[in-house]
Amino acid sequence: MQVLIKRDDLLHPPDDLCFCGNKWRKLKYNLIQAKAAGYKQLLTFGGAYSNHIAAVASAGQLFGFSTIGIIRGEEHLPLNPTLRHAKGQGMHIHYMSRSEFRKKQEPEVLKRLEEEFGIAYVLPEGGTNASALQGVEELVAELRAQTVIDARTSVVVSCGTGGTMAGIILGMAGQGQVLGFPALKGDFMEGEVRQLLASEGVSWENWSIHRDYHFGGYAKHKPELVTFMADFAQQYGIKLDPIYTSKLFFGVLDLIEQGALEVGDKVIVVHTGGLQGIKGWEERFGPFI
Ligand SMILES: Cc1ncc(COP(=O)(O)O)c(C=O)c1O
Repeated sequence: MQVLIKRDDLLHPPDDLCFCGNKWRKLKYNLIQAKAAGYKQLLTFGGAYSNHIAAVASAGQLFGFSTIGIIRGEEHLPLNPTLRHAKGQGMHIHYMSRSEFRKKQEPEVLKRLEEEFGIAYVLPEGGTNASALQGVEELVAELRAQTVIDARTSVVVSCGTGGTMAGIILGMAGQGQVLGFPALKGDFMEGEVRQLLASEGVSWENWSIHRDYHFGGYAKHKPELVTFMADFAQQYGIKLDPIYTSKLFFGVLDLIEQGALEVGDKVIVVHTGGLQGIKGWEERFGPFI
């Protein structure tokens, strides 16, 4: 069996780790649409350590949009590295109570935000929408140009909202297998992915979710995950992020070792980036390398 890594973490120069990986894929067509429709501002939502917030801030700076980041919860000073980066890229940071944040997609909340900040192209938390799926589909087109993809190929990816996985399933168009490894605890990911596929009018069944590698849930970790990240970086010279890709690589390699995966001859693991999160994580939990 061959294990290949799709290095989407390298999509943007390493001195700005924020606008790479699945963020670039998911934002590309949103940015094109926002520009074409004449929007000057992007507004989006996220937690204080969100890769998506960091990426939208970078995208705004690169492509000439002002950006507003609506952050869940209250302000903590000094700002963590993610929000420092976002602010440094010119993002206006606005904190929203957790109770209001839960209602952020409701029309009254969106109207209030528009009254306060003006008209903006609104991206959902995590950036998953139809345009995001379109961008992720291109990842598969690229893979087809780089290697042979056939019925015995599996593409493996980390899941948060499930948008990246759904885009990959669309791109695979029924061929091979797509395996998702949620970084969050719970059994909702199947439903999310199914719904995203249904909204695109397809019902491919060549995918599965592997729920045993969340390490306690979103942003949670265990010592063996930290050791794995450090060993992986040392052995392959590839950094993984602590929230998403470390759990993915740990999970897929573990299942392969156990002989528990029916994955065919070629396994392509997608490195979706997220390395900006390392700094904030190290500030909280200590260095891992
Ligand atoms: C680095 C990284 N990988 C994977 C994911 C999961 O992507 P999705 O929300 O599309 O499932 C995210 C989340 O946003 C992420 O930041």
